[in-house]
Amino acid sequence: MVSRVIPVDTFDLVIFGGTGDLARRKIFPGLYRRFMAGQMNADSRIIGAARAKNSDEQFRAMIHDSLLEFVPKDRQDDKVIEAFLARIDYVSIDAKEESGWTKLKSTVRANVVRAFYFSVAPALFGDLAERLHAHAITDATSRVVVEKPFGRDLATAKALNATLAKYFAETQIYRIDHYLGKETVQNLMAVRFANILFEPIWKAQYIDHVQITVAETVGVDGRGAYYDKSGAMRDMVQNHMMQLLCLIAMEPPYHFDPDAVRDEKLKVIRALEPVTVNDIVRGQYLAGGGEGGYIEHSENPNSKTESYVALRVNVANWRWKGTPFYLRTGKRLRARYSEIAITFKEPPHSIFDDAKGWKANVLVIRLQPNEGMNLMVMIKEPGPGGMRLMQVPLDMTFADALGQDAEDVPDAYERLIMDVIRGNQTLFMRGDEVEAAWAWTDPIIQGWEARGDKPQDYDAGSSGPEDALMLLHKDGRRWREIKG
Ligand code: BG6
Repeated sequence: MVSRVIPVDTFDLVIFGGTGDLARRKIFPGLYRRFMAGQMNADSRIIGAARAKNSDEQFRAMIHDSLLEFVPKDRQDDKVIEAFLARIDYVSIDAKEESGWTKLKSTVRANVVRAFYFSVAPALFGDLAERLHAHAITDATSRVVVEKPFGRDLATAKALNATLAKYFAETQIYRIDHYLGKETVQNLMAVRFANILFEPIWKAQYIDHVQITVAETVGVDGRGAYYDKSGAMRDMVQNHMMQLLCLIAMEPPYHFDPDAVRDEKLKVIRALEPVTVNDIVRGQYLAGGGEGGYIEHSENPNSKTESYVALRVNVANWRWKGTPFYLRTGKRLRARYSEIAITFKEPPHSIFDDAKGWKANVLVIRLQPNEGMNLMVMIKEPGPGGMRLMQVPLDMTFADALGQDAEDVPDAYERLIMDVIRGNQTLFMRGDEVEAAWAWTDPIIQGWEARGDKPQDYDAGSSGPEDALMLLHKDGRRWREIKG
């Protein structure tokens, strides 16, 4: 299938933290792919900015290496790479000092879209914003992109919002949650709001429960210091999983427009009930499969940080009263597997004798791997022998259905960076949304800290701690399998 590519306006994108891991793994490879697709025009430029003293040539060589490492081989084209690298410049700059700012000012053009990507520690956001402003490099049309973690609690998130608000209007601030850039996550909205099929039954009356799983096989290797101050709740639930929950639970926005969508998401977050201690399970992975356990990667041998968390969440509104949302995420689990599963209720009355064969309808939206959807429906078992029932999947793996190669599915960052240039904030978090998410998260974390709860051990390569099974069993339900 040929995808329609609409070129964006000419831009200058400055990436602070241009030599960092995120820039090398995601931002530059994503931009290269957009360039290759013809979406980034040949007049646009990317300016890497970091403290290291690199020449333009040295920086381009570094980005060249990153492209060879992180872009799939069959998408590497020497000519395109050369043309792309020619669009890249470098400025050595210090967020806390005066050096480099005059050069940056003379490098950035005034008559194109100007975007500034803060791919740096949040502690530097204020310094960068202040210097950009003081040197008149930004104006009311510039955009600023900030990465997570956006604070570590409500107070720090509020402080970050206040710092940015000193220099930028909310309409200029793009807070990235890369889950919103994933194709299937955007498809959630298309499935819900571009079809009549699901919306009438999208409510507690017909939905028994919802499971959201983000399982990872990787551990925290190399990120122990950051992760130990964060844990699964701050790293995944407050942002990525919260966004998924919002997209499933929200009311139809009146238009696919930044504020209309974000207003509806905000209402969901505000409707979340506090989570009680019986509705939380935390875990920490043990050594296994030739790798150290969580504790070995942490700087604190007595760390109580969770690498796994499962929660039962209630949305207190008319639509969802009585339908729990079960969330779980963890590192070093059996498989890299993320899905949203919506389990429907029983039909009100069965006309068939084969009660044993009956299973609930489930709509499964797979985020990774093999992005797609599956609707589990009941049919008659083929052949003679009476009316026996069986369940079959109506399978729509997007790559198959659309004749795409898995490599054609754009990475979340490609879409999001182009949206920044287009000036479309729909898939970015608004300040009040982030604060509301922390306001719900804070008491949960404070609760286990005050009680001194220790996470339960779980085996590397397993489905998580035993108690997580009980979280559903006590409600007469079970988790779906994490498929390897
Ligand atoms: C990041 C977290 O935001 O998301 C990581 O900090 C996590 O800990 C990652 O591994 C997961 O992203 P993805 O796209 O691989 O599911």
